[in-house]
This record gives sequence, structure tokens and C-alpha cells, in this order.
Amino acid sequence: MSNNFKKNIIWQKHSITRVKREKKNAHKSITIWFTGLSGSGKSSIANFLDKTLFKNGINSYLLDGDNVRSGLCSDLSFSVVDREENIRRIGEVAKIMLDAGIIVLVSVISPYEYQREMICKMLGRKNFLEIFVDTPISICESRDPKKLYKRARIGKIPDFTGVQSEYEIPQNPDAILNGTDVLEDNSKKLIKILHDRSIIPFSRSN
Ligand code: ADX
Repeated sequence: MSNNFKKNIIWQKHSITRVKREKKNAHKSITIWFTGLSGSGKSSIANFLDKTLFKNGINSYLLDGDNVRSGLCSDLSFSVVDREENIRRIGEVAKIMLDAGIIVLVSVISPYEYQREMICKMLGRKNFLEIFVDTPISICESRDPKKLYKRARIGKIPDFTGVQSEYEIPQNPDAILNGTDVLEDNSKKLIKILHDRSIIPFSRSN
């Protein structure tokens, strides 16, 4: 398809800017991108943080890989190309939510470094926190909450990350969390980072 139509699309400026929304919210927006193996604990940590932020009056929202793949990305497989498109769409949604003044939590395997770099560029470095949930595959596999590792090991799921498909360890994440630590402790570390970066006004949550 030709890209000619693009020249006919002109960006529409809105009166209510991100800065105005952030001021009204009394906190800033940012994307916290949780990457790690399936079963590493990304979604549980993100969910705990989301609850904590909510209780403390912060506007946050959690975009979770499995959930997004049930709707917006339900046409995508787990090939390298489709994972890239999955990540790109989630990045675009996060970008809109940043503009809406929201703290966006994203929990997706996002196995390739170049794809995470792509998101960092898309959102801008200051809008992106890369959090590596570092849990050994042996533990992820022993947890196996959805019994997917079991199915992948007997060849019932192709391209399963960590089994037939690679997970590239983040080279320069903003934080590394141990996925076997208590959820509250991991959440507290992230609250501290958000406070240190002047995103939220408190360093201790209720
Ligand atoms: S990503 O690689 O494109 O970032 P995403 O986080 O959206 O993955 O989806 C991962 C979830 O899909 C896993 O938590 C798991 O429940 C499910 N899943 C199904 N098939 C696969 C697969 N082949 N590899 C990894 N996860 C899979």
C-alpha cells in the first residue's frame, strides 16, 4: 500500500494539554514497562503497584499482555514480527495514556532488546522506566500458573518464550526486581523510584 495518504493527515492540537492534566492530577505521568518471562511475576507486581497507587489517589492503569492480546492484539501470534506489532500497539496506547496524564503500567514479556528500545524511543527516554522482573526460568516453570510451560515442553505451544523462543536479558534496565521477593517490597521500590523522579508526591504509601 502506498504511504501517499499520510500527507493528508494533519495533527489536531487540543486545548487540554498533558501538563494541564498533570497539574490537575497533582502527579506526573510515566510508563512503567515490566519485562520478564511468563510466570516471572510481572503482572502480580504491576497489579500490586496499581492497587497501591489507586489507594493513594494516583491515576494509573495496567495494560497486561494477556488481556491486550484478548482484544486489541487478538489477531497477533507469537512470531517475532507479530510480537513486534504487539509491542508497538501497546506502546502507542501507552503514548496516548501518557498524554491523558496517567501512570501507565505495562506488563508484557517483550523478549527482545530492540523492541524495548523501540518503545523507549517512541515514548521518549524520560517517559519510560524499564523494569526487569528477574526470576529464573526454573522458578517460573515450577509456578506455571497457566500450565503453559508444561504444554510448551510437550510441543503443544510453538515459540514459547524461554522454551523454544529466546528472552533477551535487558542490558540497561532502570531497575531489576527479584520476582521471588514479597510483592509489597517490590512495589515499595517502585514507589521510591517514582518519588525520586518527582512523578508522585509521596515516597511512602498507605
Ligand atoms: S510478548 O512476547 O508479545 O511480549 P505478551 O506479554 O503479549 O508476549 O503475552 C504473553 C502471554 O501470552 C503469556 O503470559 C502467556 O500467558 C501467553 N502465551 C501464549 N503463547 C505464548 C508464547 N508462545 N510465548 C509466550 N507467551 C505465550
